[in-house]
Amino acid sequence: MPHVAVVYHSGYGHTARQAEAVLAGAQSVAGVEAKLLSVAEADDGFWADLAAADAIVFGAPTYMGSVSAKFKEFMDASSKPWFTQAWKNKLAAGFTNSASQSGDKLNSLIQMMVLANQHGMIWVSLGLPPGNNSSKGSPDDLNRIGSYSGAMAQSNSDQGADAMLESDLKTAAHLGRRIAETALKFKN
Ligand SMILES: Cc1cc2nc3c(=O)[nH]c(=O)nc-3n(C[C@H](O)[C@H](O)[C@H](O)COP(=O)(O)O)c2cc1C
Repeated sequence: MPHVAVVYHSGYGHTARQAEAVLAGAQSVAGVEAKLLSVAEADDGFWADLAAADAIVFGAPTYMGSVSAKFKEFMDASSKPWFTQAWKNKLAAGFTNSASQSGDKLNSLIQMMVLANQHGMIWVSLGLPPGNNSSKGSPDDLNRIGSYSGAMAQSNSDQGADAMLESDLKTAAHLGRRIAETALKFKN
């Protein structure tokens, strides 16, 4: 049975809610196991779970136009499995969240994609058309930020995670489902 690991950092809970939506999407696919891993708890079990995963979804808030420092710490620590290319041919995908519509968060997805490539992983895109980009569009559209490389969410800087838009959470769930379905195909 393919295993999906969703590894994330969240400073104030928004990206954690997005991560939970990715997890729920992956868990909705029959025949796949999915697990949430916080970089704040990177003990031996955490690294063992990543070693056992067939697919790893990376998630971080965008801070100062890049992944948060805590997530970068995890990226640097992943140099240990990198030495033996232990993650080679695992699937990878990514998600990020920030306060601005752009906020330069594409850069965070690119950082995750480059990380995946350094590990010899196989990057899975979002696979959704862009939403909210025509006169008929709305913020309720799936992929309302219009990302291709991963799932993006936008959270107002003066509101908590409970105010996150359903459309962003559904977009995150879509990414979780897509990577789980891809993991099933690769395992067969
Ligand atoms: C140190 C710091 C830097 C930030 N930099 C950006 C940024 O570059 N672009 C942006 O749109 N939002 C930025 N934000 C806003 C966060 O991305 C936003 O509040 C996000 O929802 C936080 O997610 P979290 O609750 O998972 O930590 C920044 C927030 C912090 C604390």
